[in-house]
Amino acid sequence: MCGIIGVLGNHEVAPLLVESLKRLEYRGYDSAGIATVNGGKLDRRRAVGKLVHLSDLLVHHPLAGHAGIGHTRWATHGAATENNAHPHASGPVTVVHNGIIENFRALREKLAPHGLLPSTDTDTETVAMLCAHYMAGGMDPRAAVQATVADLDGAFALLFLFSGEDDLMIAARKGSPLAIGHGDGEMFVGSDAIALAPMTDQITYLEEGDIAFVTRAGAEIIDACGAPARRAKQRIETQSTVIDKAGHKHFMTKEIHEQPVVMAEALARYAPNGMPVFPDALDFTRFDRVVMVACGTGFYSCLTAKYWFEQIARIPCEVDVASEFRYREPPIAPRTLAIFVSQSGETADTLAALRYATGRADMVLSLVNVGTSSIARESDLALAILAGIEVSVASTKAYTNQLTVLALLALHAARAKGSLDNGALRAHIEDLRAVPDLMRQTLALDSQIAAMAGTLAPAPSVLFLGRGVMFATALEAALKMKELSYIHAEAYASGELKHGPIALIDPSLPVVVIAPHDRLFDKTVSNMQEVMARHGRVHLITDAAGAKSARAGTAGVLELPAAGDLAAPILYALPAQLLAYHTAMAKGTDIDQPRNLAKSVTVE
Ligand code: G6P
Repeated sequence: MCGIIGVLGNHEVAPLLVESLKRLEYRGYDSAGIATVNGGKLDRRRAVGKLVHLSDLLVHHPLAGHAGIGHTRWATHGAATENNAHPHASGPVTVVHNGIIENFRALREKLAPHGLLPSTDTDTETVAMLCAHYMAGGMDPRAAVQATVADLDGAFALLFLFSGEDDLMIAARKGSPLAIGHGDGEMFVGSDAIALAPMTDQITYLEEGDIAFVTRAGAEIIDACGAPARRAKQRIETQSTVIDKAGHKHFMTKEIHEQPVVMAEALARYAPNGMPVFPDALDFTRFDRVVMVACGTGFYSCLTAKYWFEQIARIPCEVDVASEFRYREPPIAPRTLAIFVSQSGETADTLAALRYATGRADMVLSLVNVGTSSIARESDLALAILAGIEVSVASTKAYTNQLTVLALLALHAARAKGSLDNGALRAHIEDLRAVPDLMRQTLALDSQIAAMAGTLAPAPSVLFLGRGVMFATALEAALKMKELSYIHAEAYASGELKHGPIALIDPSLPVVVIAPHDRLFDKTVSNMQEVMARHGRVHLITDAAGAKSARAGTAGVLELPAAGDLAAPILYALPAQLLAYHTAMAKGTDIDQPRNLAKSVTVE
């Protein structure tokens, strides 16, 4: 959500803070700010919008100091204005925050009689005011932060800096991740190892409820009960934190083009010899049903996998978005495997849903791209999807690698349940192993996809249709389209078209039909005919067999290489991604950081 960085350094910290914020910008880009303590005095610079505006400001109004904190914001409380930008200050306290303070209104009321009135619309300012209030009452910064944190409800990662203290930062974690970085006579705090990578590879992750008192000599940590706590120092592979576009114009295209390689890595890990291989604990004879929960793109990978678990492994599978699941409080039957899918491993709703399932489901399994994440750590078992760092806010390679691991998991389940013989199992895995090459062939269709995108870009709305498992692909395609191009896009199961959305059909509405030539193809073509009979403009994404039988009357056909049933939803994600990408290019939107979005959503 928001990104946090703090440095107790030996030189000017402003450039380091900005460099780290650049690496955290994927978390939010509504505003950015830094504060330093210099000669005992706190000062700050803040700017609305992307980090570049803060950098520009610092050129004309530099900020000196060897100790500082910084923040990149995804707005929750209060508009994206300079006044609402972090760091927030009150008296001797300045603070940056990721998360939401749910009781900030009650705290404001508590502080008002003491003459402490808010000057921003944010929940965060209340934290600075409360801490300043405790210090005014005689507490030192350590005691004041402990008292402040004890008063807060909600989820947060906080980092405090104080006037008169140029060798102290205090970090607190409840619900949002924070990591401490150890340097040589320098210390750092950041939202994640990626932020800290330019400074250090020695990282300590804070646990839930921890407060860390950080000086240049090291970090003293206390746990949620106030007792001293020892947290392991880990060495982070700096390779895993390299962030560069490798010659691509955008991180998104780089990540789209990485898919053949990272998919092959996932296949090599989980099907090394042509058969699925998972940890012994993942014994599907123990489970009679599967519940899958995720948000955003991860939800669509779960929806795809539902078809696989049910059709191939014959295991009933329920799928829900985390924000609904957590409050719906569904009964979880005995012998249930609960699966949580999250690229970041930090999504607040998914984490809360996981906590609900813990102790209720027989096993809590997560699929994550960040092995050190909260969701990974709180699962009974976490499987890495091995997509490598994904920077573009719109997920691409994480999605296809989630699908790859889920497909292999469904095959693993089918083997345990005896619903597939070894020959069929091997054939499915061969189909999957063919996909990286098919992906390369599909990526070569880029200019055709760009041409199709050119015809979509002027449309106010786009409808995607798919049937069976391709319905989930259509939903993901529509999500990508709206995220990137800001064009309203919807997806329907093609059989459902006649029950309402057909009223929308007219020549101005492009309809993208995603339909490999599978056993449901003819049914989808009938729905396509219904669109064309009403002068709808159909773009068909299919394979050679599909193109041969259904090209007539369409506005255009994109012909993908033929893929096996299990492979098709993975392969067909690529034209969906590229279509959204090129439409966004045609519209001139911000590809890697679309408006209003953030990559890691650690608030409800
Ligand atoms: C945000 C991102 C989406 C992502 C979703 C779930 O909304 O913008 O791209 O799919 O969060 O994130 P997760 O990290 O849990 O997969």
